[in-house]
Amino acid sequence: MDFPLFHLDWLNNRFLIAVIAILHVLINHGLAVGFIPYITWLEYKGVKNSPSNQITDFEWDNFIYKKMKVAFIITTTIGAMTGVGIWFSAALISPSSIASLIRVFFWAWFIEWIVFVTEVVLILIYFLTWKNANKSLHSKMRHIRFGWFLAVFSWITMALIVAILGFMMDPGNWNNDHSLINGVFNPIYLPQLLFRTPTAMLVGGVYGMTLAFFFARKNKELLKRSVKLSSKWILVWAPLSLFAAFNYWNVLPEAMVENMSTAVGTMDFQEYYDILKIVIIVAISSVLILAMFGVFTPSKIKMWMVVIPCFFVFGFLGMFERVREFIRKPYVIGGYMYSNLLRVEDYPLYKKDGVLKHATYASTTEITEENKIEAGRDVFMLTCSRCHTAKGVNSITYVFERMYGFGKPLDVASVAGYIPNMHMGRTYMPPFPGNEKELDALAHFIKSLQTSGESVEGAQTKGVKINPVNSVEQFKK
Ligand code: HEC
Repeated sequence: MDFPLFHLDWLNNRFLIAVIAILHVLINHGLAVGFIPYITWLEYKGVKNSPSNQITDFEWDNFIYKKMKVAFIITTTIGAMTGVGIWFSAALISPSSIASLIRVFFWAWFIEWIVFVTEVVLILIYFLTWKNANKSLHSKMRHIRFGWFLAVFSWITMALIVAILGFMMDPGNWNNDHSLINGVFNPIYLPQLLFRTPTAMLVGGVYGMTLAFFFARKNKELLKRSVKLSSKWILVWAPLSLFAAFNYWNVLPEAMVENMSTAVGTMDFQEYYDILKIVIIVAISSVLILAMFGVFTPSKIKMWMVVIPCFFVFGFLGMFERVREFIRKPYVIGGYMYSNLLRVEDYPLYKKDGVLKHATYASTTEITEENKIEAGRDVFMLTCSRCHTAKGVNSITYVFERMYGFGKPLDVASVAGYIPNMHMGRTYMPPFPGNEKELDALAHFIKSLQTSGESVEGAQTKGVKINPVNSVEQFKK
C-alpha cells in the first residue's frame, strides 16, 4: 500500500497540484510549444521582407527579439520550475500513482529527459546567439534553423507527456496487457495531442499579438504589420483547435462525460459545465473575429480588443485542464488505481481484512472503543484525504453538513450508512474499501471533527507511525 507523505489541510492536495499544473500549461503551451514556431516564422518574415542590401529588417528583427526575450525569461524560470513542480507535488501527494507511471513509462520518461535537456540547450542557443547571428545571411539562416529545431523539440516534450496524461484517463488495452506500447497508444492519446497542438499554436499567436502592443506601441507601422501576421497565424490555428476540441470531447468515455457536470467547479457549480462549452465557443469565435479584423484593418485593432480574447483563450485552456484532471475520477489511472491510491484488484483483500492491516503507516490495526477516533483518523487519511480535508477546501464535515443540514450535530449512523454507497450516487468517488469496524471508526472520527473543528496534519508535520503489524519487531518474530 501507499506511503502518504504529505497533506495540506487548508488548500486541499488536489488543488495544489492543479494550481501548479494549470500555470505550467499556460506557460508551456502559450510561450513554448506554440510561441517558438510563431517567433521563428516572424524572424524568417523579417529576412524575407528585408531591404535588398540588408540581411534582415533590423527594426522588425529587434522587435521580434524582444517578444522572444519575454518567452525566454518566463519559460526558463517559472515554466521550468512549474514543470518539475507538477511531478514533485504529484509524487508527494500520490506516490503510488507516480510510482506506477514510472514503471510503465520508464523509457518514455528517459527519452523525455533527453529531449527536455536538448530543448533547454536549444533555447539557450536560440536566444543568446540571436544578435550575433545577424552578422551574415548564412548565420541568420542557421539561427532560424535552430528556431525550427527548438520548436520541434518543444513539441516532442509535450507529445511524450500527453501520452502519460491520456493513459491516466483511459489506459485502454494496457489493463489487459501491461506493455509500454499499449500505455502510450491509449485511446485518448492522439485526440488529446491533436487538440493540444493547434491550441498551443493559437495561444502562442494570441500571446504574441498581445506582446506586440507593449513593444511596438510607438511604432504604428510595425504594430500594424505584426497584428496582420499574428492574425493570419490565428486564422490558421483557431478553426483546427475548435474542431479538435470537439473531437476530443467525443472520444471521452461516457462515464467520464457524466463526471463532467462536477468537473469544472464543485457540485455547487454544476452550471459551470455549460459555462465551459460557452467559454470554448466564445473564446474561439472572439479570437476569430479579432483575427479577421486584424487581417483586413490591422491599424484599427486596439490593445483592449486583444486582451479580452486573450483572457478567454487562457480561461478555455485552464478549464480544459481542470476538467481533464477531474473526469478520470474515481480513478487516478483508469480502471487500475482509484484516486485514493488503492489498486482496484486489491479491493477484495481490503474488504476482507480492512485497510488498516495493510497500511504502511497506521497507529493501530485493532479497533477498540478507546482508540476509535485515532483509528478513524487513519482510515480518513487512507481513504478520503486525497480529495477531502478536515477544515479546508472540500472539507469532509462541510460535505456531510450540506447533506444533513448545517448547524446540526451529525448522526453517526447516517454518516456510516452513506459511506458504503457514496460511489453510486457520486461516481467520481471510489467505493469505500474498509471493513465494518473501520467504517464505524471513520464515522465517529468525522463526527468528532465537527465538534473539535481540528485540521488533520500530514506526515510532513506529524511524522508517521509504522503499522504495528508491519514493523521490524513484528517481522523479526
Ligand atoms: C477521488 C476523490 C474523492 C475521494 C477519495 C473521496 N471523495 Fe468525497 N467527494 C469528492 C468530491 C469531488 C465531492 C464533491 C464536492 C463538492 O461538490 O463540493 C465529494 C463529495 C462528498 C460528499 C457529499 C456528497 C453529496 O452528495 O453532497 C460526501 C458525504 C463525501 N464526499 C464523503 C467522502 C468520504 C467519507 C470519503 C472517504 C471514505 C470520500 N468522500 C472520498 C471526492 C472524493
